[in-house]
Amino acid sequence: MQHDAGVLVYKMNNSAPVFLFLKRREGWLDITKGHIEGGEDKAKAALREALEESGLDLADSIDRYFKCSTVYDIDIGGGKKEKKELTVFIAEASSTAKVTVSNEHTGYAWMNYRDALDAIKSGWQLSILPCAYEYIMRKSRMSELNAEYSSLPDRMSPWNLSRVFVPGEGPLNAKVMFVGQAPGAQEDAERRPFIGRSGQLLSALISSSGLKREDTYITSVVQFFPPKNRIPTDNEIAACRGFLYRQIDIIRPRLVVLLGAVAAKEILGIKSISSVHGTMLEKDGVSYFLSLHPAAAVRIKSNMPKIEEDFKKLGKQISSMGLQGA
Ligand code: URA
Repeated sequence: MQHDAGVLVYKMNNSAPVFLFLKRREGWLDITKGHIEGGEDKAKAALREALEESGLDLADSIDRYFKCSTVYDIDIGGGKKEKKELTVFIAEASSTAKVTVSNEHTGYAWMNYRDALDAIKSGWQLSILPCAYEYIMRKSRMSELNAEYSSLPDRMSPWNLSRVFVPGEGPLNAKVMFVGQAPGAQEDAERRPFIGRSGQLLSALISSSGLKREDTYITSVVQFFPPKNRIPTDNEIAACRGFLYRQIDIIRPRLVVLLGAVAAKEILGIKSISSVHGTMLEKDGVSYFLSLHPAAAVRIKSNMPKIEEDFKKLGKQISSMGLQGA
């Protein structure tokens, strides 16, 4: 089977995306896409095609987490057809982006979602456009939410946490979400969740459960570092509460994994994680899995077999819910 890769380019206009379509000589609308050449991965091929076909350099704006694949038939002559797999990425162009089409195209158009659906009517793009649109709308909601959350220190007095906001990380349509306690010093320095020693253990545990870290969404109850790694206070947790719930509402995961006592208490009101870790609970239509926090196993070696056992059970849960590769 042949493999192509492409980018669905968009820019935001009044909080909604408008998509770039190139007009092919044959008369139909296309996105920037083409063959994956030797030595290229899919993202690299998609970015090269975007540059060649639209003149846009999207290397810094391609979404690290969204990709969508579709398989369709192409005519190869003599009445024969062959299957082709196409992987599409999304990338946001700046509002002033200047498009220069290649000689395979006669022009271009920026189209809103409804007009694009009407113009396409059928074909492989129809399976990609709704999925990309829905993702971009989540992205826009999350970026507004994160802007509001990151300015919390300016609106609260006193503020005893770091003023550096550590955003959650991962696909905004992840099926599995991990919620920890609060960032540590390294997370604070690099503005990324779970990248220190606990984070490295978390990544290994996630792969032991049959998932890839990059397919899951990772965040914490409090997204500002509590100096000296102290436990966030009840007031600090209360100040951050609404944001976490709104994040869960944007992602709408099938399964939320609560890492440690703070997350278990905050979301499910559980007083002691030691008797319930390794189990599942349902609340308000959301499925939760309870685990020890990786930091507990980094600090106290005897917790390591316990957390490994938690993630073994999580792996079984993930298979029974069909969430592998999610
Ligand atoms: N521990 C957490 O609970 N969250 C992080 O982001 C890092 C470590």
